Amino acid sequence: MRKRVLNKGLSESSKKWVQRQLTDVYVEKAKEYGYRSRAAFKLIEINTRYDVLNGVCIDLGAAPGGWSQVAAKFCKRVYAVDLLQIDMLDNVEFICGDFTNQSVVDKLLNIARVDVVLSDMAPNTCGIKSTDHLRIMELARQAFDFAQMVLTDGGNFVTKIFQGVEETDFVKTLKPRFKTVKYCKPSASRRESVEIYIVAKGFQK
Ligand SMILES: C[S@@+](CC[C@H](N)C(=O)[O-])C[C@H]1O[C@@H](n2cnc3c(N)ncnc32)[C@H](O)[C@@H]1O
Repeated sequence: MRKRVLNKGLSESSKKWVQRQLTDVYVEKAKEYGYRSRAAFKLIEINTRYDVLNGVCIDLGAAPGGWSQVAAKFCKRVYAVDLLQIDMLDNVEFICGDFTNQSVVDKLLNIARVDVVLSDMAPNTCGIKSTDHLRIMELARQAFDFAQMVLTDGGNFVTKIFQGVEETDFVKTLKPRFKTVKYCKPSASRRESVEIYIVAKGFQK
């Protein structure tokens, strides 16, 4: 049965979001398994299919912490970054700040060895597909530039993008630097969403 809530005063899009959360199986599953977000199941599926998590991991765009929770189970240490604060997690060191600021990058550059860079960063969407696409591609490109600076030989890089005109060129720039580059649309990623993940394995310095 469809659950209903009182959502007086909310905008139409907020009402839709609330209704979707209430009927979403991954939201239920996240509560059941103690994950902070339904996004945790996206990383679980990516890791089950591609075995990307190991060693020391940097999780960009970590709030509220679902991916960090998953990464912390497979990795020796996780460094998480977000504009928004997150509650503490075992085995996770959190840096609150804007990843596009050099001061945040400088802190991350102090980490001696990095095996995995994850980016689930997403801009505040405006609803105009082409603009949202360009904004997330800028974040993904910065995450890739950073990954090239820090990843150890054989390291892995996973980033979220929204599909659009710049996607093919972006994937082309990744290919020479990794052994394999794949697209992944996890089951927990809503079918109607243009969100997709690029999974790049085996960094070649
Ligand atoms: C989809 S959420 C991440 C969900 C998270 N992976 C999880 O499992 O809980 C996207 C996050 O990216 C963050 N973000 C967007 N731009 C950022 C930036 N420039 N620096 C750091 N975090 C950013 C947002 O604050 C937001 O929390």
